[in-house]
Amino acid sequence: VSRHLSEEDDTMMKLDRASLHGSLHDPVLGSMERVKAIAERYPGAISFGLGAPRPGPSGEPDISFYVERYLAHLRRERGLDERQARRLLYDYGPSRGLINDLVADALWTDEGIGTSAESVVITVGAQEALLLALRAVCRTSEDLVGVVDPSYYGVLGAARLLGLRTAGLRETADGVDVEDLALRCGQARRRGERIRVVYVVPDFSNPSGTVMSLPVRRRLLRLADREDLLVIEDGTYGFTAEPGRHLPSLKSMDSSGRVIYVGTFAKICLPGARVGFVVADQRAGGEDGPRLLADEIALLKSVTTVNTPPVCQALIGGMLLEHGGSAAAIGAATAPVYRRNLGVLLDALAEHLPSSGGVTWNRPDGGFFVQLRLPVPADDALLELSARRYGVLWTPLASIYLDEAGSHCIRLSCASLDPAAIRDGAERLGRFLRDACVPRPRPGERDREPLPGRPA
Ligand SMILES: Cc1ncc(COP(=O)(O)O)c(C=O)c1O
Repeated sequence: VSRHLSEEDDTMMKLDRASLHGSLHDPVLGSMERVKAIAERYPGAISFGLGAPRPGPSGEPDISFYVERYLAHLRRERGLDERQARRLLYDYGPSRGLINDLVADALWTDEGIGTSAESVVITVGAQEALLLALRAVCRTSEDLVGVVDPSYYGVLGAARLLGLRTAGLRETADGVDVEDLALRCGQARRRGERIRVVYVVPDFSNPSGTVMSLPVRRRLLRLADREDLLVIEDGTYGFTAEPGRHLPSLKSMDSSGRVIYVGTFAKICLPGARVGFVVADQRAGGEDGPRLLADEIALLKSVTTVNTPPVCQALIGGMLLEHGGSAAAIGAATAPVYRRNLGVLLDALAEHLPSSGGVTWNRPDGGFFVQLRLPVPADDALLELSARRYGVLWTPLASIYLDEAGSHCIRLSCASLDPAAIRDGAERLGRFLRDACVPRPRPGERDREPLPGRPA
């Protein structure tokens, strides 16, 4: 604890937290930090809490090997000498990035997304891409950000940080409810506002694991044209799909330039590298002629993080080169492990969780997460009890829902656990839910109906 927190010092000026930016009081911002803090207090607990990926079957990547691989590429393909190539890594770099050509090639190879290196901006994770894309396309606070409810906390946090309001959209088993979105666009227009941009995770969304069906993808693109919407597509979990079952990305289907595509190498390989990207090939016309939206995003980046660390880009660049220019090929080592883990978790939940009493959960085919609905409010106090008495951690979702519906919802992530730990964790969770959540029926009384909620 720092001196200023631990000691009363009347000579120091004191800030009123209420005088700081409003987003700091928003529960979304602290939601993952609170889970991490509880996890740190109970290091022995099995954690279904955070969506951290795991190292591939061959262990930790050899960082210097991949960086050298990228340096060799610079020498061979760009004609740099040894000193020039190394300087590129040690200096500040261009705000738009160094490995844009490799990322553009990988998007074509993996997703059939045809784009140029100029349309790509390399960012500090997908998180910075979301922040910058929202900042670039939302002109005033009358521009709303459409999000399914619940949505990834990172996009909600970015919107709050920028002072942007979100419009919560219904989600069906096939993805965003396009009719609801059309309705909300009309309502916003009548209020003198507009839904400017809709954020979606079409493949195995976080937290609900939903896959947007092909017809919904088509309908969303048609509506985007009709309502003059932009769509931010977050492709983070697409690589976990069963081979042959990965649906085409919205961006690859987008013939009218509505889709801004955001990606990350965090789950595919290395979250610590903090390398993500945004594809923004839209033309923005102005007095000085048209510019790419990617140019505007790079301009915003130049006063945000200046550039994504070149050493980190070199590491990812080297990994792409070593895997035939394909991000999916990097993820191919871990994707089967994630699918196996999800299968183990779903089987273990079916075995250990109470089959009556109102505990329900979904059964996604990919991604990192399973979402549960409990018959009691799932708050931080309940999580603390679960960690202390039962040794199992999960993520409460109340703070990321835009309405009250999430007060009883929790998320489980099994990405970084071994099968044995997943089974053990599910057994602990089952005991916890039986004791803490499910009121025992009095003799002669029938079980309660399950709560209405997400489909089991
Ligand atoms: C939907 C979604 N997008 C992006 C990310 C990763 O973002 P980053 O690249 O900033 O780590 C996550 C991680 O949890 C996520 O769930």
